[in-house]
Amino acid sequence: MRIAATADLHFSASRHNALHSQLSRVRDEADVLVLAGDLTNYGLPDEMEPLLNVVVRSRIPTIAVLGNHDYESGKQIELMRMMSAAGIKVLDGTAYERDGVGFAGTKGFVGGFGRGVLTAFGEPEIKQFVQASIDETLKLERAMAQLRTPKRVVVIHYSPIAATVQGEAAEIFPFLGTSRLGEVVDRQGADLVLHGHAHHGQLEGKTTGGSPVYNVAITLLQSRQPASDYRIFDI
Ligand SMILES: [Fe+2]
Ligand SMILES: [Fe+2]
Repeated sequence: MRIAATADLHFSASRHNALHSQLSRVRDEADVLVLAGDLTNYGLPDEMEPLLNVVVRSRIPTIAVLGNHDYESGKQIELMRMMSAAGIKVLDGTAYERDGVGFAGTKGFVGGFGRGVLTAFGEPEIKQFVQASIDETLKLERAMAQLRTPKRVVVIHYSPIAATVQGEAAEIFPFLGTSRLGEVVDRQGADLVLHGHAHHGQLEGKTTGGSPVYNVAITLLQSRQPASDYRIFDI
């Protein structure tokens, strides 16, 4: 299976024509399109609707997770409903199998990496914050545990490792993802991990257990040589 992956489209109406030409050939190049979150800029149905028009017209099976921007207006449930109605497979702590390849996905959350992972100690507000991070981790674990396919792909918005956020300001690393997600990947095993969110991070890295991790934020893909709007993976 050839997977075309991208993230952080941050779609607004002014980008309609640009996105249309960006996706015009994806169907010839891949069997499946993965969108790893931040599809919209402000999480508005008015942004999602024209985006879905473009995606539907590109006529490629599409799998997506939401990102933090898609939550900005509190309309994430409505957005997910719109996406499902348009035929997009939305992963939110869920799994999906297609042609022998398993996809498990969720948005993920912040929390930091390695020894810097924030722990549930002290004020109730900190505990709540950490719990939100743990909850997303558990959602990923449940989704991955459902997969029965030999090939396993993980789709998340936030980074599961520190390596693919290098290049961003060190002060914001804890807000770009958490290695709690990476620990789940290593417990369950994955052949390919796709994420976005770190617009100025690095293109690739590995979990401690050796699973390959790719940051497919569109800004990064467009700054590659040659520039592209999505990256193709063979699995
Ligand atoms: Fe983003
Ligand atoms: Fe994001």
